[in-house]
Amino acid sequence: MLDATQIYKSFGQLPILRGVDLSVDRGEIVSIVGASGAGKSTLLHIVGTLDRPDNGRVVIDGIDVNALSEKKMSLFRNKHIGFVFQFHHLLPEFTALENVCIPAFINRVEKKEAEARGMELLERLGVEHRAQHKPSEMSGGEQQRVSVARALVNNPSLILADEPSGNLDSENAASLHQLFFDLRASLGQTFIIVTHNEELASISDRTVHMRDGQIL
Ligand SMILES: Nc1ncnc2c1ncn2[C@@H]1O[C@H](COP(=O)(O)OP(=O)(O)OP(=O)(O)O)[C@@H](O)[C@H]1O
Ligand SMILES: [Mg+2]
Repeated sequence: MLDATQIYKSFGQLPILRGVDLSVDRGEIVSIVGASGAGKSTLLHIVGTLDRPDNGRVVIDGIDVNALSEKKMSLFRNKHIGFVFQFHHLLPEFTALENVCIPAFINRVEKKEAEARGMELLERLGVEHRAQHKPSEMSGGEQQRVSVARALVNNPSLILADEPSGNLDSENAASLHQLFFDLRASLGQTFIIVTHNEELASISDRTVHMRDGQIL
């Protein structure tokens, strides 16, 4: 479902990605591990179309994403890719349910339908009782679950997560990881997860090691 070939990226004069190849099958859960500064987040951003490579190709679901215009690329991203970050980036002024629905609204899904889907996801993630609460009124684990629901609201085929459990205690981390596997089993999504969590890396289908801008 994903083919990234010969990805190069420099920031200024500094080469950060130096010819990365990464292919991921549909329904696969792949962990990316490596030291701080290895280029993991940079690669995830490029694979997720949040950034463009200097060289190389990213093909998702058969579409050469960098050949798309900026506008088409952001529509593609909103529809096909879900992001989970280390810090949840929920909008503080909005309730959990509103936060979850925002990507659906951008995707022009009708309000009723978006909210029904949002509630269904919050239930599935065990935080439906927090739907009307603002992020500041929720625990870290609850906030992270809400951000996972937001990542899923448009039913993306590809979920990209950058240290999703980095800020959670071990119990919440384990249940978030379990959730990824449950989602894959029920909805067939593909996951690429940057993690320092050895347990998560060990239970994923495949672990990719990065060092100095290259995959080992
Ligand atoms: N926008 C940017 N401008 C300049 N340098 C950058 C930029 N983004 C990342 N870098 C540099 O690129 C290198 C790789 O960064 P990246 O965030 O991909 O690392 P990482 O593997 O995710 O590390 P960590 O585990 O600490 O999150 C780092 O040296 C970083 O300082
Ligand atoms: Mg990073």
